[in-house]
Amino acid sequence: MDIWTPDSWRSKPILQQPNYTNSDLVKSTEQKLAKMPPLVFAGEIRELHRQLADVAQGNAFLLQGGDCAETFAEFNANKIKDTFQVLLQMAVVMSFAGSSPVVKIGRMAGQFAKPRSSDLETKGDISLPSYRGDIINGNDFTEAARLPDPERMIQAYHQSASTLNLLRAFAQGGFADLHKVHRWNSGFIKKSPQGERYQALSNQIDQAIAFMEACGIDSSTSPQIRSTTLFTSHESLLLGYEEALTRQDSQTQEWYNCSAHMIWIGDRTRQPDHAHVEFLRGVNNPIGIKVGPTTSSEDLIQLLDILNPQNLPGRITLIARMGAKQIGEKLPALVQLIKREGRSVVWSSDPMHGNTITASSGYKTRSVNAILEEIKGFFQVHDAEGTHAGGVHLEMTGHNVTECIGGAYQITEEGLAHRYDTFCDPRLNGEQALELAFLIADTLKTARNKKA
Ligand code: PEP
Ligand code: CO
Repeated sequence: MDIWTPDSWRSKPILQQPNYTNSDLVKSTEQKLAKMPPLVFAGEIRELHRQLADVAQGNAFLLQGGDCAETFAEFNANKIKDTFQVLLQMAVVMSFAGSSPVVKIGRMAGQFAKPRSSDLETKGDISLPSYRGDIINGNDFTEAARLPDPERMIQAYHQSASTLNLLRAFAQGGFADLHKVHRWNSGFIKKSPQGERYQALSNQIDQAIAFMEACGIDSSTSPQIRSTTLFTSHESLLLGYEEALTRQDSQTQEWYNCSAHMIWIGDRTRQPDHAHVEFLRGVNNPIGIKVGPTTSSEDLIQLLDILNPQNLPGRITLIARMGAKQIGEKLPALVQLIKREGRSVVWSSDPMHGNTITASSGYKTRSVNAILEEIKGFFQVHDAEGTHAGGVHLEMTGHNVTECIGGAYQITEEGLAHRYDTFCDPRLNGEQALELAFLIADTLKTARNKKA
C-alpha cells in the first residue's frame, strides 16, 4: 500500500463532496483551520480506544447518539444540555441492567456534514443543489442558501468548540451526578403512560444507590458518582475539514483526527479504494463503519484489512443499519464471517437508517416499533451466534420533537407536523429515547443472567 499522508486521500476517487466554486477560498479556509487548536486531545482518543476494546471483548456496552445533523440555527445551551441529560439517563438504566459500564459517545460537537441520495433537490420546476449540512450550505430552498460556502467550516469549528466546552463542564462539574440522573429517571417514569413497566428497575436502582451510600460511596467520596465522560463523534465526510484538524501527536508521533474522538464512515462512502477509506486508514482514532444490506463479505474483510491491519480491539465499530425487515436475513452471515476470521470489532446497531419511511403527509419518519424490532433482531442474531451485541447508535434529541411515530405517547402521522424540527432525518425525542433504553435494559438483563 502507498504511504499515507493526511492529504493522500486527494488522489483517490471521492463521493459526496460539495462543488465549491471558489477554490482559493477553500484553500485559505482549510489553511486557517489547520492553524487552529485541536478540539480533542490524542490522550482522550486513546482512552476511548481502550474503552471500546472493553466493549469489543464483551465487557462493556456502547451508547452513541445525537442529532442526525447539528445546525447553526438550533445551537444553544439548553439543546446541548437536554441531549446530554437523556444520554446520561439512558446510560444509567443500561449500565444497571447489564451490570456493565456504558461508554457514552455523542453524535455532537461536529456532526454537520450530510451525505445525500441525490445531488439535486427539485421542487416544482426548480432544481437546486441538495442541502449537505450546515458546514457546507444552507437548508433554505434558494440558490444563495444552497451555494456551498467554505467559510461555514470556520463557524462549524467554533460551534463544535463551544459545544465541547459545555459538554466537558457538564460532565465534570456536577451535572452528571448519579443521584440527579436517577431523580430525572424517576420523574420520567412517573409521567410516562408506560411508567409501570419501568418502575421495578427504577426501584432496584434506588436500592443500589441507598446501599452504596450506606457503604460511604457517594458524590463527596467518589468522583465516579459525581462526574462522567462523554466522548464526541461525527461522520468523517467533508475531508478537507477533517484533514485540517488532523494532527501528529507530539508524544507518540502518531496521527489523530482531533476534530472528534471517534469518526465514522457512512454507508455511501465506504468504497475500499476511495478517498474516505484512504483518509481513515492513517488516523489512529476509533473508527465506525456503517454496514448496510448492500455490504458484501468481501468488501467488509477488505475494509478491515485496510483500516485495522493489526486487528486491534477497539479500533473498529461495525454499525449495522439493515432495517427491521432485513436484519434477520443479512446480519447473521456478516457476524459469522467476522467470528470465523477472528476479527475484533464492536458490533453496534443503528436501528434508524434502515427504517426511514415517508408518511402520507410527506414527512420523513420512522416508527418506534420498527426501531425496536431492529434492535431486538440485532440482539437475537448475537445471541444465536454467541457474540457480543455491543451497542446502539441512535438519532435522538433531548427536545420534545414529533419526528418519529409511536412510543408511549403515541405520536401519530397526523401529529408529526406539531414539532417537526429536523433538517435531515427524524430523531427520537427524549421520551422515546428513554423508553428505548428501558426496553434495551430488559434484553441486557436477560443476556447478563444467561452469562451468569
Ligand atoms: C447517518 O448516520 O446520519 C447516516 C447518513 O447514516 P448512513 O451512512 O448509515 O446512511
Ligand atoms: Co441520519
